[in-house]
Amino acid sequence: MMIDELEKISDSSIMRDNLDFRFFLAGTWKNSSSGKTIEIKNPYNQELIGTVSACSTEEADQVITIAKENLECWIEKTQRERADILRNAAKLMKEWADPLGYILMKEIGKPLKSAKSEIIRTSELFEATAEAGLQQEGEAIYGDTFKGFGKDKISMTYRVPLGVILCIGPFNYPFNLTGSKIAPALMAGNTVVVKPPSQGAITPLFFGLILEKAGLPPGVMNIITGRGSEIGDYLVQHPLVNMISFTGSSETGKHLANVAGMKPLLLELGGKDAAIVLDDANLELTADAIVSGAFSYSGQRCTAVKRVLPMPGIADQLIELAKNKILNLKVGNPEENANIGPLISSHQCDYVQGLIDDALEKGSTLICGNKREDNIMWPTLLDNVTTEMRIAWEEPFGPVLPFIRVHSAEEAIEISNKSEYGLQGMIFTENIDLAFNIAQELEVGTVQVNGKSERGPDHFPFLGTKSSGLGTQGIKYSIEAMSRPKVIVMNLSERGKLVKNCKY
Ligand code: NAP
Ligand code: G3H
Repeated sequence: MMIDELEKISDSSIMRDNLDFRFFLAGTWKNSSSGKTIEIKNPYNQELIGTVSACSTEEADQVITIAKENLECWIEKTQRERADILRNAAKLMKEWADPLGYILMKEIGKPLKSAKSEIIRTSELFEATAEAGLQQEGEAIYGDTFKGFGKDKISMTYRVPLGVILCIGPFNYPFNLTGSKIAPALMAGNTVVVKPPSQGAITPLFFGLILEKAGLPPGVMNIITGRGSEIGDYLVQHPLVNMISFTGSSETGKHLANVAGMKPLLLELGGKDAAIVLDDANLELTADAIVSGAFSYSGQRCTAVKRVLPMPGIADQLIELAKNKILNLKVGNPEENANIGPLISSHQCDYVQGLIDDALEKGSTLICGNKREDNIMWPTLLDNVTTEMRIAWEEPFGPVLPFIRVHSAEEAIEISNKSEYGLQGMIFTENIDLAFNIAQELEVGTVQVNGKSERGPDHFPFLGTKSSGLGTQGIKYSIEAMSRPKVIVMNLSERGKLVKNCKY
């Protein structure tokens, strides 16, 4: 079945031998000399989806060197040429959304419909990045703002690429969060090395095929597979890597920051997004938002709703509404679009179970869930969670939602801000003035008013404070992060000065 799906994508056999995927170096598909592979199994039923090469540090060196060698020629391309390649790639992604989405669903257990929309979203992101790149502008400034300088000193600023960008993505959006790094990096004139997540490595390998067919010259984008724990530090510390764009856990992100030295970093990390629900909130809307926000892709999203802080007047009613919606969620096979599917590993299930057990032992109330079969955990709702419980602070990355009852907006702000994370926050209320004032107090990258936390649309700025990240992602923001200003100052001499008949 898997092979049938792959065959729908013309030429894809060059990428693999049977189910063994190669890595992508200078426009060619290579078998790793390490002889080692990583098995990718469907987290739903443990079916083998394929294997990817566990590349060596020598191969890591090769991909980075090739990216460096191709930098000069890629910089010479015009913005128009780069934009055309991104647009061609976007078209191919749209054409191949079904088989690519199918592979994605199999390798990370994401509901089929969401997996296909991940491909379509990435296609739109490539189109929008091409547009944004074409809109880039520079500036020219006279020096005469400061005493002693005049109009004979003019600075001209435009943006230049940083060089070789290392792109490392997480398992939960392996295609989109790789594409959202590749597109701005290329548009800004950089060359690229991609290291996909091990679980979720197959779908991003198709960027090799897509971009080659879209007209990208060989060597401008290269993909190396292998375990982060084996080749990650080598890639990050490589002297020819000029910038790192990383999405993943806060733990790995902090490690990268420690070992990367002075390389510029764009880090999108974990979250513990809290929904503050005031007494006057529209509770139907709120319950819809928190249930969909907490449980889509079984809670495996950095922006999942991870805490609800309800006021006393509405807490009982809200929890009842949320419970009824949760009980309607379909649990099961991602291929059948079940809302709740498998977590990425049994290790992750054990971790989530540990958080639930801790909360129950310390006196929280189980409203529904707390059931597990293999890698599937039923959506779990916990009431009367207190700040002594681990679930109040830790990121589960699984389908469990704690309600921490609060007595005032001030208390809700305090608990929200006490988190080590600062990705997004939510406020549900009809009082927009109060929402605005609370929003200003929350130490997060983004506050959603009357809506669930989420990254998109992808041209919005997306960032985290504290342990949630460093730098800002989002189409034009990513292009900026992956380029730098270049300033040329013209110092005009008397030689060419025109004589003007000025009276004062
Ligand atoms: P992870 O374990 O940190 O892995 C992320 C990536 O880092 C993988 O490609 C991994 O490779 C690689 N890696 C591991 N060790 C490395 C090293 N020493 N050097 C370089 N790369 C290394 O995260 P995950 O489990 O895939 O993703 C879940 C986490 O990501 C959650 O915390 C979630 O909140 C966060 N996330 C954040 C955002 C955001 O935008 N803020 C978006 C999505 C996910 P291997 O797979 O080979 O280990
Ligand atoms: O997992 C982290 C992603 O950046 C979340 O993206 O809000 O579009 O699901 P999303």
